[in-house]
Parts: sequence; structure tokens; C-alpha cells
Amino acid sequence: MPLADETKESAQARWTRPFKPKGGPRYIQIAEMIAESIQSGSLQSGDQVPPQRTLAAQLGVDLTTVTRAYAEARNRGLIASYSGRGSFVTGVSEPGAEVRIDLTMNIPPQPANGAMAELVGKGLDDVLRRNRIEALSTYQDEPTTRSALQAAQGWLKPALGDLDTRALSVCSGSQAAIFAILASCAKPGDTLLCDPLTYPGLLLAARQLGLRVLAVEGDADGMRPDALERAQQQSGARLVYLNPTFNNPTAHTMPIGRRQQIAATVLRLDLTLIEDDPYRYLLDDAPAAIATLTGGANTFYLASLSKCLWPSLRTSFVLPPRRDTGERLQSGLRAASMGCSALLLGLVEHWIRSGTAKQLVQEIQREARARQQLAGSLLTAPVQTHPTGIHLWLALPAHWNQNLFTHALDELGVNVASADSFSVAPQTQDAVRVSLGGPADQASLGSALRKIDALLKEDRRRSSRAFV
Ligand SMILES: Cc1ncc(COP(=O)(O)O)c(C=O)c1O
Repeated sequence: MPLADETKESAQARWTRPFKPKGGPRYIQIAEMIAESIQSGSLQSGDQVPPQRTLAAQLGVDLTTVTRAYAEARNRGLIASYSGRGSFVTGVSEPGAEVRIDLTMNIPPQPANGAMAELVGKGLDDVLRRNRIEALSTYQDEPTTRSALQAAQGWLKPALGDLDTRALSVCSGSQAAIFAILASCAKPGDTLLCDPLTYPGLLLAARQLGLRVLAVEGDADGMRPDALERAQQQSGARLVYLNPTFNNPTAHTMPIGRRQQIAATVLRLDLTLIEDDPYRYLLDDAPAAIATLTGGANTFYLASLSKCLWPSLRTSFVLPPRRDTGERLQSGLRAASMGCSALLLGLVEHWIRSGTAKQLVQEIQREARARQQLAGSLLTAPVQTHPTGIHLWLALPAHWNQNLFTHALDELGVNVASADSFSVAPQTQDAVRVSLGGPADQASLGSALRKIDALLKEDRRRSSRAFV
């Protein structure tokens, strides 16, 4: 269709310009041409940028220069590329619109080469080629689910070792699993035990179900077994929740000795433990899962893929306690969500079987490490974290209260989560959780971290005293 081609040609001509002789590497200059054209409005959200070969010929550069330029533009969040369809300008904010950097969402950073969209597009093409559309169109197709669970058993081997995983099930994220487990194992008024600072989704689910949440004291190693026993005896609680590996929010990892003590206490008191373990695969030195120390007894083990692969997979694998048929869990899950998406489960299985999942974990670790190093170099205050973790816990200096700090930071265009959001009881500690994965690139993360560091050093009490 000549008309469409002509329109494309003129669109290309509109946004390219000659290279500046001392303007730096040509691939960066091309990425800058895209950025400038978006700013000026000559490229708009949804516009297609030319195929790489076409642009290379037009600009008189070789193909690898344009390939690098598009990777750079993807990294800057300017374009998205789709296999077989090409590259397109992403959503563009209004000129002059405030640039806000959100460090509240605990999501993994995208791989540095900006290849996520391509990976997902290719993976979904593959899933559609390998599966009948009828199987992907239904709720929990038996053979499809069975095949995905077989793949998951291999995936979970490093975490669960020789545990019997025949009762493994899959659901649309650990949040759904937590809700289903609480709903099926407790009734309104029952007590749930957990750390004083814990995953807010747990608090949300427990409160929604009318459960009483009781914090168990801990020390430098995490929840104390004697405090667990005392809390159990005083409250009659039967359920305890732990996120012992790279805890959300404190980034603390419970050492093996304490895990053994907790496992023994859970078994002796015949408690049911919910071990929520979404961060394990980001850490190469994670101690054994508590589920392996109880031999699988009395423990629900939750392995979400949201933090080690991609939150949009909405997939978590759940191993119910040994000798539990999983029936209670299944009915809780059915009541909450009718299972998970067959299409996404197909993608998960494909990524696991093809080795893509392992590679993606490594990419995320690589990018997380770079972001942690950036944080280490820009934040002068001490933080609690892990070299390949995706968040950090920052205790505020005495002159800052967490609410004033998050508010002041908000005014600077940066958002973090304050300790309040994670506290079982009214807050005892002034601290914030800083998530490193959300910003599209290290440059925007760096700019947010600089603002955090500068604000930490400001003592507003002193400056306000000067006015009274
Ligand atoms: C400890 C913990 N559990 C569960 C979740 C949610 O997992 P999913 O995305 O699988 O629902 C999160 C997300 O932040 C988390 O930090």
C-alpha cells in the first residue's frame, strides 16, 4: 500500500537529523533523536519507529549501531519492541508534567538490556503455537495444569530438595494463596502470629477475614522460639506466618540455626506455619527453607514468581503440609479466584522448560546488584539489605519522624513506604522501605536516591526552631 509507506517514510524523515560531529557515540545520538522528537511532539505515543535495517540505511550507519540505539531507547523507556511487529513509542507524559519516582512498589527491576517486552512476546507466541486454544480458553484445564506442575516440581527442587511435591498446586499469586489458607484454616476471632513488621498483604487479608493479628517478639536472628511459644500459649493461636528470607520490609534473612529452632517449635506445638518465600531465588546464599526442616509437616510453602521473574505472571506455587490432601486449600482458592490464567501458566511452563526462567533470574540479580551498588554509593546512612535484593530498609536518623520524612520526600517527587504500612501494632520504629526495582533505569533511581540522602541530612527541627 504505497500511501501507508509514504506516510511512514515521511514520519521517519521528520524525526531524524544529521549526526553532530562531536555529539558522542552515534547509538546514543540516535536514542537522543528519539527522545528529542518525543519532547517536540514529532514522535507520538504509539508511532512506529523504522525497522532497524531501514534506519541504518537512511542514516548511513551499520546495523549494530541502530540495534544498540534501540536497546538504549528501550532502557530509557522511550520505545517498546515486539517480535515480528517492530518498535513503537511508549506512553509519553505531557511536556512539563511532574516526573515522579515511585519507590513504593516491590517489583523486580527489568533486565538492563530492555528485552522484557520481546521475551514476553516471543514466549506468548510459543505458548500459542504449542497449545490448543481450547485448552488455553478454559478454567484450569487438567492436562495443562498437570504439565505445568511437573515443570514447577523441577523449578522448586533447589528450594524444596527431596520433599514430596505431589500435592503441589498453583494459584494466581501468593496473595491469593495467603487469603485462601487463612480462610480455610481459621475463623473470625482466631489469632494469627507473625513478626512485628510484616508483609502488608498478610495484614490486609487477616483483617478482611476478621482475624486477630499478634506480633511475636524477635531479636537479631528474627522471631524468637520462646516468644512464639509464649504468644501461642497466651492466645491459643494455631497459625503462624513467616517471610524468613529477605523479609519484606526489613530485608532480614533468618539464619539456619533459628530456622531449626522455629521448625522444632512449630512441630512441638502442632502449629501451622505459612512460609512465604518469594525472594529466595534472588539470593544465592539463602539458608534452607523452614519447610524442609519440618520435613514438609505443618507447613504451607509459598513460592511466588512475582519477585524472581515477573509480577504480571500472577503465579505462585503452593505446597500444602505433608499428609494434607490440599483439598482445603483448593476450595479456598476456588472460592477466591477460580484458579489462575491458563495462558500465563503456559508462559510460566514454557519459561521454566526452555531455561528462560533461570536466565531471567540471573538478569534480575545482575540488575539488582548494580542498583544495590548504586544505593550503597549514594546513601550515606546505614541500611539493611542484601547485595542482590530488590529493596532496602532504612532506619531514619533521630531527627526524622517517618510520616514527616515520607511527606517531605513526596514533595520532592519521590515516594517510599513508611514502617507504619508494615506494622502489626502502632509504630515503634521510624524507618522506611525503599524499593529499587520500580524505576525504569538506574539514572532515575540514582536521582531519587540522591534526594533521599539529601533529605536524611536535613534537620527540619533545627530549621523550624529558628522561626519560633
Ligand atoms: C512477602 C510477600 N508475599 C507475597 C507477596 C505477593 O505475592 P504475589 O504477587 O505472588 O501475590 C509479596 C509482594 O510484595 C511479598 O512481599
